Amino acid sequence: KLRIAVFASGSGSNFQAISDAVHNGTLDADLQLLVCDRPQAQVVQRAKQADVPVFAFLPKTYSGREAYESEILTLLNEKEIDLIVLAGYMRILTPVLVEPFYGRMINIHPSLLPAFPGVRGIAQALEYGVKMTGVTVHYVDGGLDSGPIIAQRAVDVQEDDTEDSLAERIHAVEHELLPLAIGWIAAGRVKLDGRRVTVSS
Ligand code: GAR
Repeated sequence: KLRIAVFASGSGSNFQAISDAVHNGTLDADLQLLVCDRPQAQVVQRAKQADVPVFAFLPKTYSGREAYESEILTLLNEKEIDLIVLAGYMRILTPVLVEPFYGRMINIHPSLLPAFPGVRGIAQALEYGVKMTGVTVHYVDGGLDSGPIIAQRAVDVQEDDTEDSLAERIHAVEHELLPLAIGWIAAGRVKLDGRRVTVSS
């Protein structure tokens, strides 16, 4: 079975969606670890509730980002993690993790990439005035939300949308698409070839 580590920084609704999918059997994978860079975040409570081991330490208590990630890398190796899922992990990873996990680390982003990368994908879509935005699941490379795309779903922007109302519809789509994409990977259906990702049936 595919052994997963989820990285998250905040509320963790996507962590919850993955955990629920594992528990109700719609996702055939093992959720082995939560990595969180904010020990007070709600996602830590969700992991404890779900009996998932937690690594939650502040990066600034380490000598640097590389030292922080080296410790995480050791833990990932100990736990024989096959796939890292970034689910609202609000920091850019260094080559310490990106290189060994290239092709084995995915991220969920709340826009149709390459539009609106970064931490304000939903607000920027509203500010720009696009009529359609969405959700992207992609492999992580060294850049900002720039890696090969695995799956996307569109979400219409409505004329009376606020950031909250649009975020709510985007999150609902994320909670379906992320466990689905992990399931494709777990089933060995996803092939990465340069920038092109193919999902076999
Ligand atoms: C999600 O909407 C995710 O797409 C976004 O953070 C949210 C986390 O929500 N990620 C990014 O913006 C990454 N740049 P959650 O903590 O409830 O899962």
